[in-house]
Amino acid sequence: MDAADVERIYSSYSGVYDALFGKVFHRSRCHAVELLGVKPGQEILEVGVGTGLSLPLYPRWCRVTGIDLSEKMLEKGREKIRRHRLTHVRLVRMDASAMEFETDRFDAVLAAYVMSVVPDPRRTLDEMVRVCKPGGTIVLLNHFHAKHPLGARIERWFSPLCTRIGFRSDLDLEHLLAGSGLRVTIGRKVNPFGYWTIVQCLNTKSETAREPVPRWRAAPGARRATLRA
Ligand SMILES: C[S@@+](CC[C@H](N)C(=O)[O-])C[C@H]1O[C@@H](n2cnc3c(N)ncnc32)[C@H](O)[C@@H]1O
Repeated sequence: MDAADVERIYSSYSGVYDALFGKVFHRSRCHAVELLGVKPGQEILEVGVGTGLSLPLYPRWCRVTGIDLSEKMLEKGREKIRRHRLTHVRLVRMDASAMEFETDRFDAVLAAYVMSVVPDPRRTLDEMVRVCKPGGTIVLLNHFHAKHPLGARIERWFSPLCTRIGFRSDLDLEHLLAGSGLRVTIGRKVNPFGYWTIVQCLNTKSETAREPVPRWRAAPGARRATLRA
């Protein structure tokens, strides 16, 4: 799926998205927003905000920016802003893998049900790390590749269907996080059947490499300066 496919598919879902994915994922969205640990006056970014189902969950003492590729999804989000008078929220059409925000702009970043939809998850995560302050929090709520051989096999069968309806089922969490500068602080299975996972991460980018280090060069405990030499 490229960006045009994503935009087309999710624009076509915009009218029915809340009915299909609202209630069923409500508790996990609440949990994900809680794990952001929002403090008064903080700047929060939600990537792939969609129709804004999580927007009423943010405390009013922070400022929230939501971005999405699909203008039709964002239009539903804007309706929620008006309905709930969410004056602390703004929505912008933007590609999460090439954000226009300056580095270290946000205190916390959320991606709920997004990483397996974006065309380039590694690049999107790198962008989330870049725009998040060092020591900030990044929360991912997503399905990650099953570790159990049977589960992994079933996922492979369903993979072409999943892609057609707008997400991939084979995203590997360890591979996604490798070299990202994120340290996992909490990881929990959530939602019906524990199919989805919430991962809370600390952004340690000032201590670690920002660009992913090629795996074949990275010796355990090796420092970036050594690797570059
Ligand atoms: C499954 S929906 C999740 C929406 C919302 N986060 C939720 O909890 O319901 C995925 C959203 O990610 C958006 N998206 C996919 N790729 C994107 C990208 N590169 N940049 C911004 N938004 C993107 C899609 O348009 C869609 O609205």
